[in-house]
Formats: sequence, structure tokens, C-alpha cells
Amino acid sequence: MKHLLAIEKLSRDEIEAILDRAESFAEVGRRDIKKVPTLRGRTVVTLFYESSTRTSSSFELAAKRLSADLVSVKAAGSSVDKGESLKDTVATLSAYDPAAIVIRHPYAGAAQMVAGWTEAAVVNAGDGKHEHPSQALLDVYTLRRRLGSLDGRRIWIVGDVLHSRVARSNLIAFQRMGAEVTVCGPPTLIPRGIEELGCEVSHSLEAIGEADVVYALRMQQERMSESFVPSLREYAATFQIDTRRLNPRQLLMHPGPVNRGVELSGEAIDSPQSLIVEQVAAGLVVRMAILYELLAGGERPAPVPDEESSPTPIGQPA
Ligand code: CP
Repeated sequence: MKHLLAIEKLSRDEIEAILDRAESFAEVGRRDIKKVPTLRGRTVVTLFYESSTRTSSSFELAAKRLSADLVSVKAAGSSVDKGESLKDTVATLSAYDPAAIVIRHPYAGAAQMVAGWTEAAVVNAGDGKHEHPSQALLDVYTLRRRLGSLDGRRIWIVGDVLHSRVARSNLIAFQRMGAEVTVCGPPTLIPRGIEELGCEVSHSLEAIGEADVVYALRMQQERMSESFVPSLREYAATFQIDTRRLNPRQLLMHPGPVNRGVELSGEAIDSPQSLIVEQVAAGLVVRMAILYELLAGGERPAPVPDEESSPTPIGQPA
């Protein structure tokens, strides 16, 4: 795997290899010293043109835990403010000879373009409404840990599907791992023709009791140039996931950040069924696994050495 641009390009075996690798990094995370030497001497650049808390912090921490040198650039406050183009920014940062560039950008296809301008491995950390592959991988990882397997599980993705790159990546990833997916929301927030991706479509929560997992999406008001719902209050009245609509055997997920009281009630977020915090924790080990797969391997998981006990990168002969 040279780049991670879209979940669409990964087979089930490739997804499972990343998840297995993430399991080995979860074991590292339980050690006193949580760092391994795998990427010592390599450089990882993170380049974010959109706001982020989870994705940016977990990729940064993942790079550090793998002992890489890290250059972290946010477009705001950088020379992008002076009009520097994406291509010139990538050329500038590529001059440091990075092993990987992790990019988030509002333009769908930006990560693919960056891959054409640099020798570095490129990770798509979210491109417009297109894809967010590392989110899909961490969500599959979280569910696999809880459920063992996604085969035959029913997952409802509820909310603003139209503006969501997470919805698209997760729909593909969940189905590739054997789950049956329903997308649910008002007709204005469901993309026309989405059934062609193999999912069911519902415009009401009436049958949500059939779901094993309810995956709620954020209302992405920053991407809405017109009114898609009469008001957030009316949207919440019909589509908010609360503890009345969620039954005790169902799991609840959300990629974050959450609009508390809009797509989810506060009680649902804080309920024992909520996996939201587990998703965030999974983000670190899955992103370590992504950097590992791109920069150091492609083999099935090998034992991970302590930083102190062995200077040998994992996946490399001693
Ligand atoms: N889920 C997600 O991408 O969160 P951030 O925008 O905080 O990175």
C-alpha cells in the first residue's frame, strides 16, 4: 500500500491486516513505555486545512509513538494565509523529505492530487464530502473489538449523510466487513442514488429497533449553504437518538465532534451503550497501524519490541 486515499480501494484482507496491526499497537499502549523505534529517522508531516481535534492529535501522537520526527502545519497561521497554493505548500514541505504527508482539505480529491505532487506516502485525513478512510478503519476496529465480527450485523447510519465523508467511507467499510447498512435521515440529507452502494434507505426511525449498531452523524452546518431542515429543533424532534429511541442491546457510535442535544441527547452520549470514547482511543492505535503499513511494512503483525530492549524496527530483520 503506497497511499491511503480512500477506503474504497482496500480489500477486506487489507482492512483486516491494518486492524490486526492496530491490536499489536494496543498492546504497546498498555506498557509503561508506549513508544517503539519503528519510524526513527523518518519524518511525518500533518497538513490540515480544516479544523480537527481527534484526527490531527491522534496522527501526531501516532507518529511520535512510532518515534518519527513530526512537522505539524495548520493552514490557518501558515503561508496559506498569504496565498500560497496547495501545490506549492506540498512542494515546500516535501523539501524536508517526509516519509508521509497526512492531509485534510475541504476539496474532494485533494489528497489524490497531493499524491501526484510528492514522493511521500499520502494519507487522506478527510477530503471535502468524499472520504475519511482512517475514521472508517477506527470504527471497524472499535466494532470488531466489541462484536468479534461485523458479519451479518445491522448498522444504521443516521443523520446528515449528504455532507458526510464519514458516512461514505463507513458505509463502504462496514459492508466490506460483512455488515448490512441502512442510511436514515430526511430526504434532503440523503444523497440521491445512494442505494447503488448496496445500502437500504429509510426516512424515519420507526424500524431502528432492528439495528445492532446506531451510528449517528453530525449536522454539518458549515457545509450547508441552504436550509436542509426547517430548524435544528424540528430535526432533533424527528431524528435525534436519545435513550427512548435506543434499546439497551444496541451500541451507539458517533465520529465526533457531537452537537449535544441535536443529533444525540446528552443522556445517550453518556450512556453505557455509547462507544464514542472507545472510538477516540481506537483512533490512536489504528493511525499507528496505518503509518506502519505505509512506511514500514505490509507483513502480518510481528511482535512489537520495547523501545529500550531493541533498537530493531518491527517488521525488519534483527
Ligand atoms: N471525527 C473527526 O474527524 O474528528 P475531528 O474533526 O476532530 O478530527
